[in-house]
Amino acid sequence: MRKSAWVTIFTVCLTAGQTVGFPEQTENPTTEASFFDDAFAEIDSEQYEGRANFRDVPANLTGAHLYRVQLKNNEHKRVFLDLIKTEQIDVWMQSRGKKAKAVFMVLAANVEKVNMRFYEADITLKRLSDNVQKLVDEENPSENVTKLSNSKTGYALTWKAYHKASVIHDFLDNYATNYKDLCTVEKIGNTVEGRPIKIIKISSGGDKKRPAFFIDGGIHAREWISPATVTYIIRELVENRTAYSFADEVDFYIVPLMNVDGYEHSRTRDRLWRKNRAPGALCKGVDLNRNFGYKWGGKGSSSSVCRGNHRGPSAFSEPESQAIRDFILKFDIGTFKAYLTVHSFGQYIMYPWGYDYMTPPDGTELQRVGDLAAAAVKKLTNTSYKVGSSAKLLYAAAGGSDDWAKAVAEIPYAYTLELRDKGDYGFILPAKFIKPTGLETMAMVQVVAEEMLKAERLKKN
Ligand code: ARG
Ligand code: ZN
Repeated sequence: MRKSAWVTIFTVCLTAGQTVGFPEQTENPTTEASFFDDAFAEIDSEQYEGRANFRDVPANLTGAHLYRVQLKNNEHKRVFLDLIKTEQIDVWMQSRGKKAKAVFMVLAANVEKVNMRFYEADITLKRLSDNVQKLVDEENPSENVTKLSNSKTGYALTWKAYHKASVIHDFLDNYATNYKDLCTVEKIGNTVEGRPIKIIKISSGGDKKRPAFFIDGGIHAREWISPATVTYIIRELVENRTAYSFADEVDFYIVPLMNVDGYEHSRTRDRLWRKNRAPGALCKGVDLNRNFGYKWGGKGSSSSVCRGNHRGPSAFSEPESQAIRDFILKFDIGTFKAYLTVHSFGQYIMYPWGYDYMTPPDGTELQRVGDLAAAAVKKLTNTSYKVGSSAKLLYAAAGGSDDWAKAVAEIPYAYTLELRDKGDYGFILPAKFIKPTGLETMAMVQVVAEEMLKAERLKKN
């Protein structure tokens, strides 16, 4: 539908034979692939099966270095790509812009070689850590710190530490029991390994339907700040409810932890695991954020089972993405007005499209609301978030939940958030940042909810 709208605009422009700009910033087709888009394409075109599958063997992080880099010219990019392909570096975050930026890890065994390579190519690196294992060891405070608060709240979850999946789920169940008129908890499916995927509905509406707002966290296992922040939002909407005037006008549906198996795997076996735990002889796991059924199989998604961005054998092949799809599609189209999917890291507020370098017809509205959210955060905690469409800001990646939410579920305000930080700790964000990150994410939720409600009121008048 949107595609044909674009084709129409394009055809009109062609037949008119003029160089008139597109109305607003609609689906402006550009083919400005970034370095990273080309890199993804090149990597995926080569067969990786049978090669070192470093993602399935937990890396030894002792003495591993973390770096930030800006790739200023083609030579820089060539060297960088070669290091990715030969698996001497592990890229944690990448974004485009005038200069390609990346945060990447180098295992201890490769540090010397890799540094030499960058030195020879005249590439300056900023070293963020000389021992990633130390970051991991210091990320999460010991159990006793967290035990203190159990008695007060009746649940074991805190925002002083990262907790296991069952503690997150018990927290939801506790709310269902103690806030009967406000909270309902439901199992929306099971993971590959049979763990429940839970959703909490927070609504004071009774049977009356309000504009609905969907939030999910923990699609990617290693992005621990995501479920921690999403549970923070849940707590605000329940225990601090009176602080938010929009709360009584919206039905919230929140899945704090979509990739339960991957999260547990990342807690107990491999801190940097990203995908779900789909079985596979050679390599396990499907990237759930490449598995959604809109433009599935396109750019930035790999067919190779060992890659971190493996898209799976078909759209919605995974029970975790199916659960989200089936839950949302049980409702009439038009019920959900906002969708937030929470990731880390990099500090971005992104809207569709992710599958290609285009923005939807209402791209200017998505940008406007995103800008407002970023401004609210800046004011609150002085943290800077960049706003833009995701393929243009980071890289093209098809099969994301945001694109599906926008195009298929027709949820107008669809965003992907990349929370803190900008790479100082990356995925291994110390637990002391949960509260400030929760606070600022709640400010984003507030802006999106309020702007969504305003738009609804305008429609009715
Ligand atoms: N870092 C996220 C990922 O790689 C960004 C997703 C943005 N959305 C998209 N449809 N590409 O999954
Ligand atoms: Zn992610």
